[in-house]
Amino acid sequence: MRVLLTGATGFIGAHTLRKLLEEGQTVAILLRPTSDPWRIQDLLDRVTVLYGDLTHPQALASQLKPFQPEAIVHLAWQGVVNTQRNDVSQIFENIPTSLELIRLSAEAGCKHWIGLGSQAEYGPANRILSEDMPTSPTTLYGSSKLALRYLAEGLCNFYGMRFVWLRLFSAYGPMDSPHWLIPYLILTLLKGEHPKLTKGEQLWDYIFVSDVAEAICTVLREQQARGVFNLGSGEARPLRTIIETIRDNIDPSLNLGFGEVPYRPDQVMHLQADIGRLKAIGWEPKTPLEQGLKQTVEWYRANRNRYDS
Ligand SMILES: NC(=O)c1ccc[n+]([C@@H]2O[C@H](COP(=O)([O-])OP(=O)(O)OC[C@H]3O[C@@H](n4cnc5c(N)ncnc54)[C@H](OP(=O)(O)O)[C@@H]3O)[C@@H](O)[C@H]2O)c1
Repeated sequence: MRVLLTGATGFIGAHTLRKLLEEGQTVAILLRPTSDPWRIQDLLDRVTVLYGDLTHPQALASQLKPFQPEAIVHLAWQGVVNTQRNDVSQIFENIPTSLELIRLSAEAGCKHWIGLGSQAEYGPANRILSEDMPTSPTTLYGSSKLALRYLAEGLCNFYGMRFVWLRLFSAYGPMDSPHWLIPYLILTLLKGEHPKLTKGEQLWDYIFVSDVAEAICTVLREQQARGVFNLGSGEARPLRTIIETIRDNIDPSLNLGFGEVPYRPDQVMHLQADIGRLKAIGWEPKTPLEQGLKQTVEWYRANRNRYDS
């Protein structure tokens, strides 16, 4: 299949690109003038590169048509990290740019659209979450994802495109942004520094990033897949256990600062995906948490210089 993958230079995108190419798909990606393609440098000669920014869609249109995408996997998003989740200046821009991409893709003959949503669409429910549960986001990030989920579905229906929306829970693995808890913790401990942490009583659903990429490839392949799917490991562990496992992979004697940071006022204490819908189409997570954490620590140990600045 001919697939346009947006966000290929990002954390999830880089792993997804690798998997799509392993599966023999023909892939085009976007590069902006400001993109740093370090995660996919070794793959660039195997893809078609479209140059441009989603905020200037007309410049992309003339490159999109000749590629003739059959499917769009849309991962690009401004303001993914926690510190930008309520950034009014950029978060809502994702909605018109994503809708315009659907319109341009439909005009280029595209038939399948896969978008990345988030558990943030549900808000702090503190229970196992299935796709039919009420959504009540408390961040602009969650609201904008939820708004796009409905608008994109309407537009895909209008153009006769298959619509899939994957509500991703927390992904972890090699090459992540250092702002997230797991890379922050690993990099801090590798430097021998003391991490400041909450009490760590939260129950959290972490999924290894190659399982995320595999799920994206599965919904692309399995054309009966339509609508909203939760994408998580389906298991929740106490954050404290996850943190101690990471510490033990680095140096069991290191001191952890549990309780040195208070919980946030809207702290979610239980986040867990019901993944029955994705399992029903043949996907399931393959990487046990202990194995994924070990692999992740090893990658950061070997590549820590990349994060020095
Ligand atoms: N990471 C998680 O655990 C998680 C959880 C739930 C949902 N998600 C969703 O999964 C998707 C990927 O997340 P991620 O963690 O991989 O994010 P990321 O590392 O921040 O990557 C974001 C990607 O979007 C691209 N992008 C942003 N604005 C763009 C624009 N205007 N035009 C073209 N490209 C643009 C970036 O390109 P540049 O390299 O040029 O900046 C980058 O490739 C996002 O939709 C995110 O909301 C992620």
